[in-house]
Formats: sequence, structure tokens, C-alpha cells
Amino acid sequence: MAKVAREQWSSKLGFILAAAGSAVGLGNIWKFPYVAGENGGAAFILLYLLCIAIIAMPVLVAEILIGRTTQRNPVGAFKQLSGKPFWVAVGGMGILAGFMILSFYAVVSGWSLGYIVEAIAGKFYDFNEIGSSGAHFTNLTQSVVWNVGYFAAFMALTMLIVYYGVQNGIERGSKIMMPLLFILLIILMIRGLTLDGAERGIDFLFNPDWSVITGKTVLVALGQAFFTLSLGMGAMLTYGSYMSKKDNIPISALDIIILDTLVALISGVVIFTAVFATGENPNVGPGLIFHTLPIVFTKMPGGIFFAVLFFILLSIAALTSAISLLEVVVAYFVDDKNWSRHKAVIVFGFFTFLLGIPSALSFNVLADFKIFGLTFFGLMDYISSNILLPLGGLFISIFVGWVWGFNKAVPNLKQGAEKLFDNYPWMLTLWKIFIRYFAPVLIFLVLLNALGLI
Ligand code: TRP
Repeated sequence: MAKVAREQWSSKLGFILAAAGSAVGLGNIWKFPYVAGENGGAAFILLYLLCIAIIAMPVLVAEILIGRTTQRNPVGAFKQLSGKPFWVAVGGMGILAGFMILSFYAVVSGWSLGYIVEAIAGKFYDFNEIGSSGAHFTNLTQSVVWNVGYFAAFMALTMLIVYYGVQNGIERGSKIMMPLLFILLIILMIRGLTLDGAERGIDFLFNPDWSVITGKTVLVALGQAFFTLSLGMGAMLTYGSYMSKKDNIPISALDIIILDTLVALISGVVIFTAVFATGENPNVGPGLIFHTLPIVFTKMPGGIFFAVLFFILLSIAALTSAISLLEVVVAYFVDDKNWSRHKAVIVFGFFTFLLGIPSALSFNVLADFKIFGLTFFGLMDYISSNILLPLGGLFISIFVGWVWGFNKAVPNLKQGAEKLFDNYPWMLTLWKIFIRYFAPVLIFLVLLNALGLI
């Protein structure tokens, strides 16, 4: 297939920022606190950190490596490296997962957009009573028009950016927005820590109660590790495919992980100091940050200003993640099916919107419609985050550790990282052991255990 030269990131920083932009999103600020809240706090967080260090880190390196070596989308990459239908299907599963994740992710992103308007409209002045902010959130999400409307608006924004090509928009935007979001989170953390009763939040976050941990919890921790790093479905692979051979993969992976983990932990402190200081319940599920943060803003000088800024930045963080989800699907149809970028964006943006509608309705008309005890929204999240992503990670590690062959993988990994591996050869040994044995075996055990098979 004749191909135009593929776009690349304009600089080393470009890749790190775009990949960090994909990683840092609702997963850190919205999902991490509520999932930790539902799963007992500190013990869950330790498991999550362990999953990041011993499973997600080597898999992240593997994903970026496959992408950079092949310069292709997930399906094209496996076609090029193996050609076996099974591995091509693994790439296809990633594309499916991306599609499913985006469909509910954009619903929550819509809430964030909607909260910009709530903040500007001054709604956050009334939340001094326990429960009032939560009730406000419930009211909003019970409105079909509000929920579907902002969801549609967010999808339109995502499509617009991917439509105009990723490079300028994402790279440039991320350079300004991500540091700003970081600074704002630190300000909110200071506010959180100085609330009366903040220490109970810190205790909940950092003082583990191991009795709450089950096989399911470990699976949720693993799923969260994959979700927050955009791993297991080829997003990092696709971003890696635009990376230069001169760049250092392991160091870039480490940078992404450090940034992402910091944002999650800081968000945890912001939310849980507020949850306990205000007597809210840590266990309310997906609405958690929308219940608690407005109360924090109410209690801050200049609260409205910070609230507006926060929800703008949160929406942008969500946008830099959402585009990475849509980009994977689009890249596949552009690379392998010869579609124009514009057609792929419009067709798949529209399908994602359709698939997301039942998720948007899960908070109102479909609230009582449960499959395996979950709403449609919950089911989409569970299947994609907790099943498809770990499964994708399992196959990626098996592929790199056993199928592709280290004799081909390692020279590619060394490009751009010659000095690092010359100085610290044990790093390479460690990665080989982890990607070959630790990651696949652990993921496999966690999946079996959660399915009740061991
Ligand atoms: N990592 C993003 C977040 O935490 C979400 C995301 C973007 C994602 N791309 C992904 C999750 C690919 C899984 C796979 O908000």
C-alpha cells in the first residue's frame, strides 16, 4: 500500500505530553477516587500502586515499543509483526475496547462540561448542607436532556480535534493546559488539607485495612492501573507509532507513569479530605467528585473562579484522553482501510455517540435496567476496563515476551536508550523477566481469580 510519510511528534516532549495527556484524565481525577472509595481506600491504593509498578510499567514499554517499531495502528502492527489471525484479532479487540470506553467516558466528560456552566451560574454557593451538592448532581443527571446534551457536545469537541489532525491541537494544547491543571490540583490539595477533619481523609487514603480485599478488588485495581495509563488497547501503541527512533522509550514510560500517578494521588487527597471533612459518603460511586468538589469550592475564597477554572481544565484533560481513544479507531481505518481521516472521524464519532446513549440514560430512564447487577454504564465500564484491558495487556506481554522474540524486540528497544542500557544493563534484564513471566502470569491469575475459577 502506497503511503504518505507518517506524521511524527514534533519533539521528544511532544510525545511525552501527548501520551501523558492521554493517560491523565477522568481516570485520575474522577475514577480513581471513587473506585478507591468503593473498595476500601488505602489497601486498594497499595494494590493499585503495585499493579502499576510490576505489571503496567513493563506493559507500557512493550506497547510503545510495538508502536514505534511498526509505525502502525494496533491491527496493522500485529499484522506486520506476526500476521497470525489470532494476533490481528488482539489488535481488533483493542479497537473495540477503545470504542466502548469512549462511549461512557464521553458521558462523564459531558458532566464536567455541564459543571462549567453550573459554576458560572453560581450554583455552588448553596452547598453548605451535607447532601445538598449530591442532590444537585442527582437532579442534573436525572435530566435526559442535560445528560445526553452535554455528552453530545463533548463528542462533537472530540471529533473536531481528531478531524483536524492530532499534532498541532494536542501537542500545543497539552503544553499549557496540563501544567495549569497540575498547579490547580495542588492549590485544591492545600485547601483540602486545611479543612477541619481532613485527617480522617488522609487516614482513609493511607492506612490500609486488608480485610476488605478480595479477588475482585485486585482485578479492579489492575483494571484501574490499565485504565489510568491508557494501556491494554493500543492507545499507547498508536501514540508510540508517531514517536521518533531517537527517543528513549523506558524513560518516556517512566515520566508518563510518574505524572499520572502523582495526579491520581493528589486527586485522592483533594477528594477524600473533602469527603471526610464534610461528612459525605466515600462510597457513592461515579458521582463522587461532583458531590464533593462543589462543597470545597463553596468553602474557598474565590471559589467560583477556581470552580470554573477546575471544570474547564478537567474537561480539557478529558478531551486529551478522549481523542486518544478515537484516534486509535480512526488510525486503523485510515492506515488499513484507506478511509479518509474525515470520513473515519464522522462515522465512528457517530457510532460512539449511539453506543453511549444507553450509558447516558443509565442515570435516569434506564437506572433500574440492570445486567449482572450493573447499569448499562457500569457494564460498559466493567467489561472494557476490568476485562478487555487486562486481557489486552496479557496478550501484549505474551506477544512481546514469547512470540515476537527478544532478539528482534530488544534492538528496537535499545534505539534511543543506548546509554541507559549500557550504564544499567540490569534494567533490560528486569524488563525481560517482567514482560515474559511476571506480567502475563499475574494478569492471568487475577483474571481467573476474579472469575471465580481459582
Ligand atoms: N487514561 C485515560 C484516563 O485516565 C483514559 C483513556 C484514554 C484510556 N485512552 C485510553 C483508557 C485507552 C484505556 C485505554 O482518563
